[in-house]
Amino acid sequence: MSADIVSAFMQKNIFLNPSAMDYILKSRKAEDIMQAASLIERKNTPVFFDNSMIDALFVSSAELKPSVFVIKSYNEEPKKREVGHFVSYMRARYDQLRDILMNRLDMQSAISIKRATEKKTMEKTSLVGMVLKKEETKNGNICLTLEDQSGHMKAIVRKDNRKSFESANELTMDEVIGVTGSCNGEVFFVNDLLLPDIPVAEFKKGPDDVSAAFISDLHIGSKMFLKDEFLKFISWINGETGTDEQKKEAMKIKYLFIAGDLVDGIGIYPEQDNELEIKDIIEQYNECARYLSIIRKDISIIICGGNHDAIRISEPQPVLEKTYAAALYTLSNAIFVSNPAMINIHAVKGFPGFNVMMYHGYSFDYYISNVESIRHNGGYDRGDLVMKHLLQKRHLCPTHGSSLYIPDEKTDPLVIDKVPDIFITGHIHKTAISNYKSTTLLSGSCWQSKTAFQEKVGHNPEPARVPVVNLKTREVKVVKFMA
Ligand SMILES: [Fe+2]
Ligand SMILES: [Fe+2]
Repeated sequence: MSADIVSAFMQKNIFLNPSAMDYILKSRKAEDIMQAASLIERKNTPVFFDNSMIDALFVSSAELKPSVFVIKSYNEEPKKREVGHFVSYMRARYDQLRDILMNRLDMQSAISIKRATEKKTMEKTSLVGMVLKKEETKNGNICLTLEDQSGHMKAIVRKDNRKSFESANELTMDEVIGVTGSCNGEVFFVNDLLLPDIPVAEFKKGPDDVSAAFISDLHIGSKMFLKDEFLKFISWINGETGTDEQKKEAMKIKYLFIAGDLVDGIGIYPEQDNELEIKDIIEQYNECARYLSIIRKDISIIICGGNHDAIRISEPQPVLEKTYAAALYTLSNAIFVSNPAMINIHAVKGFPGFNVMMYHGYSFDYYISNVESIRHNGGYDRGDLVMKHLLQKRHLCPTHGSSLYIPDEKTDPLVIDKVPDIFITGHIHKTAISNYKSTTLLSGSCWQSKTAFQEKVGHNPEPARVPVVNLKTREVKVVKFMA
């Protein structure tokens, strides 16, 4: 068995040293170990696992056996970044998205842009390019400038080619797309514009009648933090309030996701001080821990940070900083992940579990104001439209400038490389729920009433709502804690 375990981890480029092997065999059942190994993502460079990394991998509560496997959480050491890193980063992103596109049947013979420019006569072909420019021509067509490492080329999408024209209209800079059509060496005439998009996958339903609840944007420390409503939520999730039926439903919850902005932070926006009830960041986290500690311990609480939390704002944001959030780290049922992160929940024998992608949603502001179909169809009220848009682009912030990011040289951690079963976001303070293909889209609400800033920019938050997903039926219900 130990040889199988070693090889299962080696396939993921993870090496267990003898003491880690010893530790893993003593602390876990062999089948659980194999299951965890099958779920984790293959590392690009060899990783040597020690005992603490194994513990981080297997976070489970023995009592009711909810399983949580952190599949993807960014933990690169911070280092100085130079211009060259941005170049390698964009190249890594291009390569990852090109690989996704090249899986499509109609893209398998795609050529490089350099080869396309060498054509002497009009020929049918296809290529993959990053959007460098988007202009409207005199005739109302769209002219894209596409780029790969070999060169760049103009691609025309005619307005009478409705489907591709609509996709082109929605493009923002730096997205990686595929085009099929004809090319004469100078211009590419687009027949079909292909987005990396997610494939249709199985709409998974789990074997057990258990649920997961999703919240975000607590903003503890703010004068507008909705204490009473949050306490009502806690008492409900603990099965202490409501009818017997409501209590039964609440007790089915085994997982609680918190998608960032746990506290209001300090110095996040001008004159925030006037709106703070707790003016010390550590105290804000202490208060947050006091609330979360009342939640029953058989619920695994999975936490990532947001732009109000005391961590660097560039994405991926690492796990919450222990220096400030030490109190939260004392909670035995809390699991900390980066923003974004991918977490697998409720994998049981014969069922692979659900992959939950968590992203606070800092890039949403950009797409709400720059993508017409989102802006005209509800904007800030429709977080689900942004989520669908990002899944189609297979990236959480495709456009440079839509969010701040750390340029990783080897991979772009913001590429959506694995299709999530559930996608949870926060930041816009309004619940929206929808399905896109086989993915459930959930935008968290908030626990803060309308701030002066939100009033000024015309946002209309809808606090104290909790989407709950039943993992057996995949039905989503929203529980309201405020009239
Ligand atoms: Fe927030
Ligand atoms: Fe936020």
